[in-house]
Amino acid sequence: MTDLSHIHRFVPGNRHEATPLLLLHGTGGDENDLLPLGQAVSPGASLLSPRGQVLEHGMPRFFRRLAEGVFDEDDVRRRADALADFVNDARKCYDLPAPIALGYSNGANIAAAVLQLRPDVLAGAILLRAMVPLSDPPAVKLDGKPVLIVSGQFDPIIPASNSQRLAIELAKAGADVQHRTLPIGHQLSQADLTVAQEWLGGIDTSRSDNAAA
Ligand code: MLT
Repeated sequence: MTDLSHIHRFVPGNRHEATPLLLLHGTGGDENDLLPLGQAVSPGASLLSPRGQVLEHGMPRFFRRLAEGVFDEDDVRRRADALADFVNDARKCYDLPAPIALGYSNGANIAAAVLQLRPDVLAGAILLRAMVPLSDPPAVKLDGKPVLIVSGQFDPIIPASNSQRLAIELAKAGADVQHRTLPIGHQLSQADLTVAQEWLGGIDTSRSDNAAA
């Protein structure tokens, strides 16, 4: 047990050169959900996996929404800030460099918000089925931070124009964005894993801020 703000799982890695992953589950998930995906995407990396602190009809999320795809943006900002503080505290507690977020759906959306509001917290991000989290994000400098967005061509929840807009916003802020669209829906698939593994193998996080928190 720790006194960190979020219920979480921490799985220490045995491959110390691997950037830790911050695993962020989708609506109705919890801190256990993405551990297998994290282990598969980056074997031997340390995994930090918090549970979202909002409950929607009993289902954990990382921020409140008013309807599907319509977000309570004040809550997005507050929760992104609290998650960023959690990550910084967890880095001190577990002696970690800045992690790469690996988020799915609601977890990808809060990761995008953290990139736009507290960019120093993350070394990069893998955003699976992400949407624009903030209609009017602050100007931010992402300075070449690597970001992978993986969208589903047949995703009934996320219009292609929306994920495209997120990719453009992050690239304009200076992130090194790769946006892939797979011929699938909102659910995760084996192809997400393959694309994420390949992308991770090709990036150089030494450019990103990996200094101690
Ligand atoms: C969200 O609320 O973040 C998105 O609609 C994705 C979802 O969690 O269903």
